[in-house]
Amino acid sequence: MKTILKCINCSEVFPENIITYKCSQCGDLLDVTYDYQEIDPRALKEEWKSRSLKVWKYKELLPLQPINPVTLGEGGTTLHKCSKLSSMIGLKHLHAKNEGENPTGSFKDRGMTVGINKALALGMKITACASTGNTSASLAAYSAKAGLKCVVLIPSGKIAAGKLSQAIAFGAKVLAIKGNFDDALVMVQKICEKYPIYLLNSINPFRLEGQKTLAYEVYEQMNYSIPDNVFVPVGNAGNISAIWKGFCELKKLGFIENRPRMIGVQAEGASPIASMIKENKESLEPFMNPETDATAIRIGSPVNWKKALKVVKESKGTITSVTDAEIIEAQKQLAKVEGLFVEPAGAASFAGLKKLIETDEFSSSESFVCVLTGNGLKDPDIISKYYKKPIEVENNMESLGGQLLDI
Ligand code: F0G
Repeated sequence: MKTILKCINCSEVFPENIITYKCSQCGDLLDVTYDYQEIDPRALKEEWKSRSLKVWKYKELLPLQPINPVTLGEGGTTLHKCSKLSSMIGLKHLHAKNEGENPTGSFKDRGMTVGINKALALGMKITACASTGNTSASLAAYSAKAGLKCVVLIPSGKIAAGKLSQAIAFGAKVLAIKGNFDDALVMVQKICEKYPIYLLNSINPFRLEGQKTLAYEVYEQMNYSIPDNVFVPVGNAGNISAIWKGFCELKKLGFIENRPRMIGVQAEGASPIASMIKENKESLEPFMNPETDATAIRIGSPVNWKKALKVVKESKGTITSVTDAEIIEAQKQLAKVEGLFVEPAGAASFAGLKKLIETDEFSSSESFVCVLTGNGLKDPDIISKYYKKPIEVENNMESLGGQLLDI
């Protein structure tokens, strides 16, 4: 389907085939828009039924339809029914969407498959991003698959070991800058302005189109219905905006009547959007020195904050914050109770849910989906920091038997 780019602030439109990430009139963010009139919703629903759960299943609502898209098999992640956790915290319907099942272990792959095909369609030869880790792992993998060169800028010493290993193994040029993620994002934008390099951070609206497919999947996995509430970890706020767009499109097509309430969750030490909402401020005040053990969301100046505010307003949701202790506790519970091993940032959604169900904003009979954004294997250092160490034992039955008395 033909698409155009539209500024979220001044509504200026741009053709889809120019390389731009911001409105040239007012400098604000862009969004991909479609002519939904062209779609026959009934026929589309039937067609989708015949395809297996994957990002490209939804190609009619993606901004490009390559005949053989570059793909690593992203999407189609499990929506787990979490009955035990649910009753532990007094809820009736709790599901968790495990995005760690994606090819490189995070939700970024949904966006990256679309972004990399866009890069190819535009004739670009080099890709780039700034990253707290997962974007760099994902972009490096998809660039490798597509035969493109890739440069990633990461905050030196601040990304999880698993993610760094991925970016290196996939052959990206890894530049560890002496600064934080926000600094890296400023620099990578300058690089992409100056050189013919395609930027694939979440200010690239085409990438976000892939990420919206999570909403379509939840709808299908819940037997063509939607949950009352969706909790999403928030860093740059691209993902929550993309998922919301997916639900809005389902409504536009007449597939659903109501949309879920969207709740974003930031880590307390990196929570400028949550603070803004709490203090009822008009604009974002960046956190100059963001700090959290959930390094994936260690972001002080989220580029998509305006899109996120729109989501909060339209969905009657909110963005809250949780402490690192709450995040680690949530990570432990997901692993020990439901067998779901997620990285700290990935557990922020569940930590936020546990915090907010204490308030009277939510009723225990409502349905909840927590998006678990990244795989636990990404960040082994967190485990050595917060979990029990293995116990050294002698290689004999006496020593082993003694240990088995207390498991
Ligand atoms: N969860 C995980 C595991 C992430 O890696 C990220 C972002 C988020 C949540 C937040 O998503 O930025 O769209 O609000 N990681 C980026 C990166 C910033 O570079 O990998 P967001």
